[in-house]
Amino acid sequence: MSVKNIAILFSGNGSNLEAILNKVHNKTFGNTTIKCTLCISNKPDAYGIIRAKKFELDTIIIENKNFKTREDFDKALVDEIQKYDIDLVVLAGFMRILTPVFTSQIKAINLHPSILPLFKGAHAIKESFQSEMMVGGVSVHMVSEELDGGKIIAQETFKREKNMSLEKWEEKTHSLEHEILPQSIINLLTE
Ligand code: GRF
Repeated sequence: MSVKNIAILFSGNGSNLEAILNKVHNKTFGNTTIKCTLCISNKPDAYGIIRAKKFELDTIIIENKNFKTREDFDKALVDEIQKYDIDLVVLAGFMRILTPVFTSQIKAINLHPSILPLFKGAHAIKESFQSEMMVGGVSVHMVSEELDGGKIIAQETFKREKNMSLEKWEEKTHSLEHEILPQSIINLLTE
């Protein structure tokens, strides 16, 4: 029996954080038990902090605004993560661009609300909705220094319905996200 520790980094609402905690935290898959050992937010008012509390998990706040450079902020993240025996870092709505200070030292995955490499960046849901694509989707990828650019490890898609609204598109996107991210963690840590 082995225990694998994950760290979850988030910035806001935290619905993906909650999906991971529900589906993965303190659960055993084959011979592997996965534990969320560390939660970090760069925003002190992120709603995810309250969600984590429901699972008796405290969130460490590391505010990017308190650091002069991206590199200094990334070093503070790395220092915190390295205090624990973390097997995988999960970016679940963590809205920061990470530098090589982080990416060269930390094995991490990121969730993105589009079919990468299409619609990189912060407006992926709206841009994919406004495109002519007949499908939308979500991706999980390894984190590299290129924004939304590391190796893709999982993708799921949904079909555009007739007269689909942006709200429905968002809802479909998020419901796929809540499945694909927990499953990617399980796959990576139990393979
Ligand atoms: C998700 O759509 C994720 O793909 C994007 O930010 C959103 C975070 O949502 N990077 P939540 O905070 O997990 O609810």
